[in-house]
Amino acid sequence: MDSNKRPDDMVRITTKELADTFIAEQIAAIQAQVGDKKVLLALSGGVDSSVVAALLIKAIGKQLVCVHVNHGLLRKGEPEQVIRVFKDEMDANLIYVDAVDRFLDILAGVSDPEKKRKIIGAEFIKVFEEEARKLDGISYLAQGTIYPDILESVGVKAHHNVGGLPEDLKFELVEPVKLLFKDEVRVVGSALGLPDAMVNRQPFPGPGLGVRCLGAITRDRLEAVREADAILREEFAHAGLEGKVWQYFTSIPDFKSVGIRNKKRVDEWCVIIRAVNTTDALSATIEEIPYPLLKKLVERITSEVKGVNRVLYDLTTKPTGTIEWE
Ligand code: XMP
Repeated sequence: MDSNKRPDDMVRITTKELADTFIAEQIAAIQAQVGDKKVLLALSGGVDSSVVAALLIKAIGKQLVCVHVNHGLLRKGEPEQVIRVFKDEMDANLIYVDAVDRFLDILAGVSDPEKKRKIIGAEFIKVFEEEARKLDGISYLAQGTIYPDILESVGVKAHHNVGGLPEDLKFELVEPVKLLFKDEVRVVGSALGLPDAMVNRQPFPGPGLGVRCLGAITRDRLEAVREADAILREEFAHAGLEGKVWQYFTSIPDFKSVGIRNKKRVDEWCVIIRAVNTTDALSATIEEIPYPLLKKLVERITSEVKGVNRVLYDLTTKPTGTIEWE
């Protein structure tokens, strides 16, 4: 039987009871596969790797070594959340790697989006590999592969995926959720006790804010887009839109415009708001953000985000626009 093919009669996991059964089966399977050996996992804090981490922690505890690489392109609060959930609450064996300066230094001056993606992907593998080599006695590599990744292995995610892994590290793979669809992974995550905010996260590109800080990444604009994104997410949550809109985020272009601050004309950055709905990311429609919410966003972003004097709202569907700006 092809272990990468979902059996036609496999039950779709839609309830906590079904998730609990799946979890019990996977714990037994993982224990049988791994025995007393150690397993390594690149834990980004995204839904898939978080669910795999929580499953493995249940199955083998400290035999799992999680590596969280902070490349500086994550959203506000994400590295802290990974540490809080996995290290503090689940007592995981977690290695936190602060690679922020390393990534920002190597990306300095690079403006081509595909070059940026390649650099981020390659550097991620390098950092992860370095950490892996420091560890003794690792036999397995866990991955948050899900069924759409297998179906589209030459498609979008595989092409986009930053979390690709070092090929010369010859580990056997542990992929406990590889036959699940995304909605099932979320149900399993909830049953494992992961926080809602982690389980119901909107899609976030592997290169992260790197492709939302348009053109050559600079630290001031990166911080600005991170703050603006945090405000957008906070206000969407207050308005009850969290989990209802497929993807919403901010981007920051690399040009300034003149504005007025403290009665003086000053050149500052602008921030672009984008909120879209889609089923497959191949086409997308625009979420019509209510005007009072837009007004609040403009007020907060222009007063709270350093160096930003204007907010734009992108109303372009896909096509002709793509979801991301680069
Ligand atoms: P586009 O911009 O192509 O985006 O309409 C479609 C979906 O893919 C996400 N995206 C990426 N995801 N690495 C990823 O993992 C990437 O380089 C990347 N670029 C775009 C985008 O956020 C949207 O959900």
